[in-house]
Amino acid sequence: MEKQEFSPGPVVRKTGRLYDNLEKETKKVKLIIDGREVEASEGMNILEAAHAAGIEIPSLCYLRRINEIGACRVCLVEVEMKGMRTLQASCAYPVSEELVVHTSSPRVRRVRKTMVELLLSDHHRECTTCIRNLNCELQNIADNLGIRNIKYTGEKKAIPVQNQNSFIVRDYNKCIKCRRCEAICSKVQEVNVYSAINRGYDTVIAPAFMQDLSQVACITCGQCVIACPTASLTEKECIDSVWEALEDPDKYVVVQTAPSIQVTLGEVFGYPVGTVVTGKLVASLRRLGFDKVFSTDFTADLTIMEEAHELLERLEKQHRLPLLSSCSPGWVKFAEHFYPEFLENLSTCKSPHEMFGALTKTYFAEKEGLDPEKIVVVAIMPCTAKKFEASRPEMGTGNLKDVDWVLTTRELARMIRQAGINFRNLPDEDYDTPMGIASGAGAIFGSTGGVIEAAVRTAYYLTSGQELDILNYEELRGFSGLKEAWVELKGRPIKVAIAHGTGNARILMDRLKAGEKFDYAEIMACPGGCVGGGGQPIFGTREHKEISLDYRHNRADALDRIDYSKELRRAHENPAVKKIYEDFLGHPLSDISKKLLHTYYTPRGALPGFKMGGTKGGYAGRGEGNAPPHDSREIKGDEQFVKNHPAV
Ligand code: SF4
Ligand code: SF4
Ligand code: SF4
Ligand code: FES
Repeated sequence: MEKQEFSPGPVVRKTGRLYDNLEKETKKVKLIIDGREVEASEGMNILEAAHAAGIEIPSLCYLRRINEIGACRVCLVEVEMKGMRTLQASCAYPVSEELVVHTSSPRVRRVRKTMVELLLSDHHRECTTCIRNLNCELQNIADNLGIRNIKYTGEKKAIPVQNQNSFIVRDYNKCIKCRRCEAICSKVQEVNVYSAINRGYDTVIAPAFMQDLSQVACITCGQCVIACPTASLTEKECIDSVWEALEDPDKYVVVQTAPSIQVTLGEVFGYPVGTVVTGKLVASLRRLGFDKVFSTDFTADLTIMEEAHELLERLEKQHRLPLLSSCSPGWVKFAEHFYPEFLENLSTCKSPHEMFGALTKTYFAEKEGLDPEKIVVVAIMPCTAKKFEASRPEMGTGNLKDVDWVLTTRELARMIRQAGINFRNLPDEDYDTPMGIASGAGAIFGSTGGVIEAAVRTAYYLTSGQELDILNYEELRGFSGLKEAWVELKGRPIKVAIAHGTGNARILMDRLKAGEKFDYAEIMACPGGCVGGGGQPIFGTREHKEISLDYRHNRADALDRIDYSKELRRAHENPAVKKIYEDFLGHPLSDISKKLLHTYYTPRGALPGFKMGGTKGGYAGRGEGNAPPHDSREIKGDEQFVKNHPAV
């Protein structure tokens, strides 16, 4: 993009894949569905057209624009053509003028039921004890179709549950081979971990040679978990360990909540998507028995202070540019596997929840006269990648981990239910001080574009002594896959980029590799940022199986509302942040800041589980094969985790 005049705000160009121009104006066609005339856009399939007209057709393997392989046949409909009525998979059959479709004829109902009965025939049906009970698409469809007994019984698989890492559990006895995990990992994240292994009845959708996810280039994002319609892929639960800590009178248990949890937890308790439930979130954590309820937004503000200074220092010296954000551990791992030559560009800032853990066991412990050994830090986070991040050996001091346990939004919801707390009846309560005080800049960390906007608000102040007109920078957010802009700092333009979803990160990184210049880039591993994280509530209903990401928009809008509602909207205005610098850290990038709040990264290669010299291409997609010797910290970290917590 050519250099632009940037007054009054940034000039933004939006590109990237998957999230742009999805609803382009196209020619309309008219068809008949269940006797009703329906208008649809040319290029739609029958399933989409029916859904747009309010007619529901069950589906399982379909993910709009991601997985349209017509594999499960659950979406069968009858199509009338040239006097013949044939059964067709509605997710793979395009609409056309005067098409006549029957979505619920006796034949359709019979065949559809048989399809699901076949899927259930070798499924390990443990619904009452299953983690996806009441939130499982297979269970939901079986119920809707009135399947009350299993007609076909035969051989059942007994594949050992893959449970060897700190973030995702795979149970292939519950896999329906829809391949949604494979599609999201390859087409959206462009990591390419899964493929079909074996043939026929023995087929499994798994990493090569059935390796554990910790042995391949998985970035731990959890997008496959969200895509999976059943309990075949789930997060590694840590609930029991957290209960144990809460029940131990000798432990002081501190909890922190990531920005996005405030706008997603309510969905599990029946609130519309995009409802802000901060007050009830805090109240529920107190009822669960946590000794202090703090907010990761506080350390998001602190991250901004550190990262804005890092940016200004690098701009001054014109080295290690562009500065690449480091708050998304899925993105960090992606860079470690696929773009190791850019690791020195990553900000050395730990992610906010790790900074929080480090400060709780030092600054807070000292202030409150607590023994750091007795403090347990629990983080409520939007993604499974934070579980892996907490298990990295570098995320701690001595034998103390910064963060002891990471729970996803889904796990917290389960704990609230287990405790019998009536979430909707809870009063609104405030976070504890001082580490619960946060600006609006901390809140917007939870959606794509938020980190750059928050950093620019502070860097602008640091360089000009004036406050930025925030309204002019809102364009940096929004859901285009890749945004580029010129923004002004110290009277000079700097070029920034924002990418979300690692498929978009690849586009940006390949442009950097080709020599294109940027000064600062924010990259989030999950589509939409943390609001779309792999640990967020899963929708088991048809209308959310879409890439339009409507619900992620709603969540992001809710974070914006938190930002707007705050008097404090800039990280550098946060009085608790000022105080921690005065009393403890000294100043951003001080020696103690660097010791506690900063980290380093490890090249891992695209094939970490293989002991081989160099490979080109490799099964792990477009990653360049400079596979290092077998020295993956990921593997070491996870071995340690599993050794310490065998029952988890
Ligand atoms: S995955 Fe679904 S159908 Fe299978 S046991 Fe779990 S809840 Fe039941
Ligand atoms: S966690 Fe992410 S990278 Fe790993 S297999 Fe799942 S989608 Fe792919
Ligand atoms: S693991 Fe889940 S998403 Fe992947 S194929 Fe099996 S059921 Fe589908
Ligand atoms: S074949 Fe259409 S949803 Fe699976």
